[in-house]
Amino acid sequence: MEDRIDELREKREEALLGGGEDRIESQHDRGKMTARERIDYFLDDGTFKEFDRFRTHDTHKFGMEEKKLYGDGVVTGYGEVNGRKVFVFAHDFTIFGGSLGEVFAEKICKLMDKAVEVGAPVVGLNDSAGARIQEGVKSLGGFGEIFRRNTEASGVVPQISAIMGPCAGGAVYSPALTDFTFMVKDTSHMFITGPDVIKTVTGEEVTFEELGGAKTHAGTSGVAHFAEDGEEETLDHIARLLSYLPQNNVEDPPRVEPWDDPERADEELTEIVPDQPRKPYDITDVIESVADEGSFFEVQARFAKNVVVGFARLDGRSVGVVANQPRVNAGTLDIEASEKASRFVRTCDSFNVPILTFVDVPGFLPGTDQEHNGIIRHGAKLLYAYSEATVPLMTVITRKAYGGAYDVMASKHLGADVNYAWPTAEIAVMGPQGAVNILYSEELEDAEDPDARRDELIEEYRQEFANPYTAADKGFIDDVIEPTETRARLVSDLEMLKSKRDSLPDKKHGNIPL
Ligand code: COA
Repeated sequence: MEDRIDELREKREEALLGGGEDRIESQHDRGKMTARERIDYFLDDGTFKEFDRFRTHDTHKFGMEEKKLYGDGVVTGYGEVNGRKVFVFAHDFTIFGGSLGEVFAEKICKLMDKAVEVGAPVVGLNDSAGARIQEGVKSLGGFGEIFRRNTEASGVVPQISAIMGPCAGGAVYSPALTDFTFMVKDTSHMFITGPDVIKTVTGEEVTFEELGGAKTHAGTSGVAHFAEDGEEETLDHIARLLSYLPQNNVEDPPRVEPWDDPERADEELTEIVPDQPRKPYDITDVIESVADEGSFFEVQARFAKNVVVGFARLDGRSVGVVANQPRVNAGTLDIEASEKASRFVRTCDSFNVPILTFVDVPGFLPGTDQEHNGIIRHGAKLLYAYSEATVPLMTVITRKAYGGAYDVMASKHLGADVNYAWPTAEIAVMGPQGAVNILYSEELEDAEDPDARRDELIEEYRQEFANPYTAADKGFIDDVIEPTETRARLVSDLEMLKSKRDSLPDKKHGNIPL
């Protein structure tokens, strides 16, 4: 028996070494952790339970039978993060560059199937050269099996991807199908075709970093939700993100022990919205003041900055926050902002996270660029996302809510549960300037002093329409509240809404405009 146990221990030791000491050193030289080091760092101490550590490929071409390494390039298993179960796979770049073959894919599929069966999140740590060339179509089939499982698991268990090395070609689509993608600055890249192919096909010259680095995907393409400074920060932030999410779609997000006064009323809130309607302010100041102290965790902070999305807590309960950002393009909604916000709303709705919306929006961004690129169908996504959401929806209009954008931003008409306006709110078809120019164009042409007359008319319009009381009179706004009352009111509403039951009519699935 002892011999057998020794043999097992030796094999385990061998498996721990992946592609061997030299390749581990080379991984470290590139500033990267190994697959096992990443898992060790990420999971609570001693909780990792591994699957399939002894699996090897069964490819015989290209001399592959000589190169069999335990694990076959991916470490899979489950463990705990802050005491909660998580399934994790980590590509092992030290084995065939972490390239994906049939066995590699089977290991990931087994893990995903189990995660869905037991209802726990899947975190994928990607560091791979893509399809394993020696395995040909078997690799492509493996990718396809993973993509299908990503799709089936979507909206069932949270799926999070971290890109911690190369991620090219077909390999990019598994992360793209998951709920959140993290990238590590300088050491990770994602692209469909690399710089060499691009140069051959189009003549364009581009570096790896410009093409598909973390900053590019977090800021320009919106493919990544987070660009992190290092691997440890990435893994810490994944753990933080998980803390706002439930384990699966039939559970609620965990409530943490509240640490902030639910009645806290920051006087600064009264001063945040400037008296001049066109003057910008930073909506994150409002979010941070209303939410539990230090709880705001922004998502996609570098992309479409005219809308802010992220998670926060109210009296220890998780909420998703969507907010127009008056500091950027006056908080107008454009194509990218609509996509960012609608994706986030759907993510929250999938996982039973109530949504808190702050509104200060002058409308959709005008222009041929927006129209020709489809702002109509992209803007429709946000209407769709809010309309189909069944989680508690709470809305606060801080200043402007004009035109179609009023409807879009979680209005009562789309099904919001509680809608508030601050006294500074202006709820109307359009802003006073535009309205007066259209309504009184002839009168202004004939006026003796058109500028003075325009100012008068603007003031009249402002008195009549640019305030929250007409909407409150119709019941579209449940109450006009002082900014300092916001936190206590929302804390109370969230408690009231926790037993909300709402569902959509039976259907195969809706047809969101894509
Ligand atoms: N299939 C099988 N093995 C692969 C591979 C692949 N797709 N890509 C890399 N490898 C192997 C290399 O042969 C090397 O093996 P070795 O250590 O035994 O010599 C090892 O992985 C590391 O690759 P290497 O090229 O030395 O690493 P690098 O850091 O310099 O470059 C890449 C990494 C990913 C940029 C580069 O390997 C590459 O471009 N690979 C091909 C990517 C691709 O086109 N994949 C198909 C997309 S679906």
